[in-house]
Amino acid sequence: MAEKPFIQIKNSLLKEIPSDLVSNLPDKWEKIGDVLTIVLPSILDEYKNTIGKKYAEVLNCKTVLKDIGGIKGEFRVPNVEIIYGLKNTETIHKENGVKYRLDPQKLMFSSGNMDERIRMAKISNKNETVVDLFAGIGYFTLPIAIYSKPEKVFACEKNQIAFDYLNENIILNDVSSIVEPRKGDNRDIAPKNIADRVIMGYIDETEKFLPNAIDCLHNHIGIIHYHNTFSDNTIPNKPMKIVEKEAKKKGCKAELLKYIYVKSYAPGISHYVFDIKIGEK
Ligand SMILES: C[S@@+](CC[C@H](N)C(=O)[O-])C[C@H]1O[C@@H](n2cnc3c(N)ncnc32)[C@H](O)[C@@H]1O
Repeated sequence: MAEKPFIQIKNSLLKEIPSDLVSNLPDKWEKIGDVLTIVLPSILDEYKNTIGKKYAEVLNCKTVLKDIGGIKGEFRVPNVEIIYGLKNTETIHKENGVKYRLDPQKLMFSSGNMDERIRMAKISNKNETVVDLFAGIGYFTLPIAIYSKPEKVFACEKNQIAFDYLNENIILNDVSSIVEPRKGDNRDIAPKNIADRVIMGYIDETEKFLPNAIDCLHNHIGIIHYHNTFSDNTIPNKPMKIVEKEAKKKGCKAELLKYIYVKSYAPGISHYVFDIKIGEK
């Protein structure tokens, strides 16, 4: 039987780095297409290139990136350095039959959000209009367009690099007739009074975008998928109070359909998505 990749990596690195350091090697990684990202403790810094090469060989990757500071800022940019391989880190990641072209050096792709991307694929239907307020490279827009085939998806994205990949991915996945990409801040460029469903796939003070999301809905009626990070001991009531307040300001009401844990964010804080029905009072 083939050895598990991590056992293989550890065993062959035993010959190349001091044996007492082997226990510090990461047994988890993010593999986006053929580009790998790993977190290495500083104690292994001296050997990072040797280590990168081994992970690349065993996991069949063209480049290995070292995560040096998570994902930062409004555009959710990863902070990474190349420790092995090709400088051109553009790749195509395939998930659930969707092709995502991106550069993992410049843009995030979270494996922790995979279940939600799969859930979104079948959430809509041919009669709906969808607005994706934080489309990125098409994380949710593409699976929805491919599998739910709604009438239209308006995909809003502010970052030029992500927007360029979004355009490429629309063509790559053959959904140009369904998806209309729009470049800019969603508060300025999202279509108003049109959607049956609004996706808010962003987790940095997403509550600030709720008034805009409600305005995208046709007659202020429809479903909002509201992502954010919340203290685990405050959900669902505290976040829902904020949504209810914003709905009330628009003269409508908010009803929680369900909430789903997406992934851990920090101790006691997690990323959740709330499915919320907005309707008449
Ligand atoms: C990286 S995605 C979140 C990840 C995604 N939900 C997933 O499944 O992995 C968030 C995107 O929102 C974009 N963004 C942030 N603020 C925005 C705004 N005000 N208007 C439009 N796009 C925005 C960022 O540039 C980024 O591409």
